[in-house]
Amino acid sequence: MVYRTLADVPFRLAGVPEMPHATRILMADPADFRVAYVINPHMAGNIGQVDRAAARQEWETLRSAYDRLGFDPDIVDAVDGFPDLVFCANQTLPFVDEAGRPAVVLSQMHAPERRGEVEILARHFGARGVRVHTLDGGTARSDFEGMGDALWHVGRRLIWGGHGFRTDIATYDRISEITGADVLALEINDPDFYHLDTCLSLLDDRTALVYPGAFEPAGLELLGAFFERLIEAPESEARALFACNAHCPDGETVLIQRGCTATNERLADAGFEVMEVSTEQYLKSGGSVFCMKLAHW
Ligand code: ARG
Repeated sequence: MVYRTLADVPFRLAGVPEMPHATRILMADPADFRVAYVINPHMAGNIGQVDRAAARQEWETLRSAYDRLGFDPDIVDAVDGFPDLVFCANQTLPFVDEAGRPAVVLSQMHAPERRGEVEILARHFGARGVRVHTLDGGTARSDFEGMGDALWHVGRRLIWGGHGFRTDIATYDRISEITGADVLALEINDPDFYHLDTCLSLLDDRTALVYPGAFEPAGLELLGAFFERLIEAPESEARALFACNAHCPDGETVLIQRGCTATNERLADAGFEVMEVSTEQYLKSGGSVFCMKLAHW
């Protein structure tokens, strides 16, 4: 089921079935990364402005950070003509089915420029024996941008479903059917935060990092009821430095764009280890740490 307001939700977190946390990380090689078109406000003025050597360096540093944390990322090769493929959080939503088998749901990208990326990820997972689910079986198109908008509650079969810019809320009915998960829908109201992963990062089962200004009151109420701790990122760090695009792969360490000073202090106060990385070249395209990897099973 899909829920948009707390008053309609007949359960609380303790009643949600458990689901193992993702333990694998996938990244996509940045050889073809650049800003070639404008499909979000951050890309405006940045066509041709990516320093490709710096982009390679930043990507390699992020990859080694995951290595150091023990993840050893799988890599999808770059494909000519897909400059945004490097944001590999967007083309699929990985999950484990109720029998414990790894699976993915394929996205239906909002932007025509990115639609060809989905097949590349479908082939990657298909070749590795992962079950690949498609969304609408050829009927009316509904947008869905994978883990850009659909975030797994850590350790539970529960999805936080962002919508408003890249994903249609109607798509979540089908996502819920395929994954066996309830969806708590969060409407985003600010185009700078066009994906849920730009304004919300789920750090552990009881803690989220959030920029509240991007949400409607109903969404904030849902978040308040399901998380014991909401750590707020200040507007400047959320908007310009993608503070909420941070990723906590192990429940302890938070990988985050360099310079989010106030956010980092709050994370440290809450007991998290902060690991800063540079993603400046990717910020020009409207992405940072969370979008540059896909957590899967
Ligand atoms: N240029 C890409 C786009 O606009 C950036 C995607 C960033 N991904 C993310 N999950 N926020 O689609």
